[in-house]
Amino acid sequence: MLSIDLSGKVALVLGGSRGIGAGVTRELCRAGSYTIFTHTGNPENKEKIDTLIMEIKTDGGSVEEAKLDALDPDGTDEFVKNVISRLKKIDILVCNAGRNAARPVEDITTEDWKKFIDLNLSSAFYGIKAVLPCMVEKNHGRILLIGSSAVFDGGGGAIDYAAAKAGLTGIMKYLCRIYTKKGINTNVIHPCVIATDLVRERYNSEELWQKLVSRIPVGRAGTPKDIAGIVAYLASSWGDYICGQEILLDGGRTMFNK
Ligand SMILES: NC(=O)c1ccc[n+]([C@@H]2O[C@H](COP(=O)([O-])OP(=O)(O)OC[C@H]3O[C@@H](n4cnc5c(N)ncnc54)[C@H](OP(=O)(O)O)[C@@H]3O)[C@@H](O)[C@H]2O)c1
Repeated sequence: MLSIDLSGKVALVLGGSRGIGAGVTRELCRAGSYTIFTHTGNPENKEKIDTLIMEIKTDGGSVEEAKLDALDPDGTDEFVKNVISRLKKIDILVCNAGRNAARPVEDITTEDWKKFIDLNLSSAFYGIKAVLPCMVEKNHGRILLIGSSAVFDGGGGAIDYAAAKAGLTGIMKYLCRIYTKKGINTNVIHPCVIATDLVRERYNSEELWQKLVSRIPVGRAGTPKDIAGIVAYLASSWGDYICGQEILLDGGRTMFNK
């Protein structure tokens, strides 16, 4: 039996109150890591946060939540320093905070462009910049960037989103070139049609949803757990020899269903 053991590890998930980030937090805890997840403090997600924490703790896991805007570089730096001073390290960083808004190029203002690039790309940079010195000092680290299949097929409905997510690949390649030698493995995971609030808000009727799902060759939408499994695997010793990869989790949709 393949078992994923993250006991003794400290993980930070940027954007974990719901959806993929919550699923990743749950799986990292289940594998034994002490996991901290962040969110913006959006009151709409308070119940989800409380439920997530309760379920993890009932399961015997160790988890913390924190309000931290991933768009705030100074706040991120201060927050990470605080975690490291308490827990002595961060082994695993998952950059998950992100969202898209489907609209044509003509409707995107310059301000809008900057906002979406910041959320989907710069937030990862802020997290990485804050965590990297500790990972270098420990000569160990795992960085998992949550991209999007939009990078491969231009989907997702927005140019700013596709551009920002493609930028994560550049970040990953740079990090691998310089930091793999220092024990830090970075990979990008590209989800596609994972059944979360984000996607449900876009495909907001049963008809639209069924039409979307009918175009996925494996016959169902993905779940946060589908993404969480690969994140936990890569974060564990099973991922020691895997770096610089882009892993598409799309049930076959991107290649077989244009
Ligand atoms: N679902 C899919 O099919 C799919 C496909 C491709 C890529 N992705 C990517 O996967 C990631 C997660 O998507 P999802 O579907 O799980 O979305 P989601 O349900 O909207 O969840 C997004 C999470 O990010 C947090 N977040 C948003 N802005 C933040 C900020 N400024 N600072 C801190 N946290 C923030 C949200 O927390 P609060 O709102 O509580 O603050 C929430 O926990 C995103 O990067 C998305 O682009 C998803």
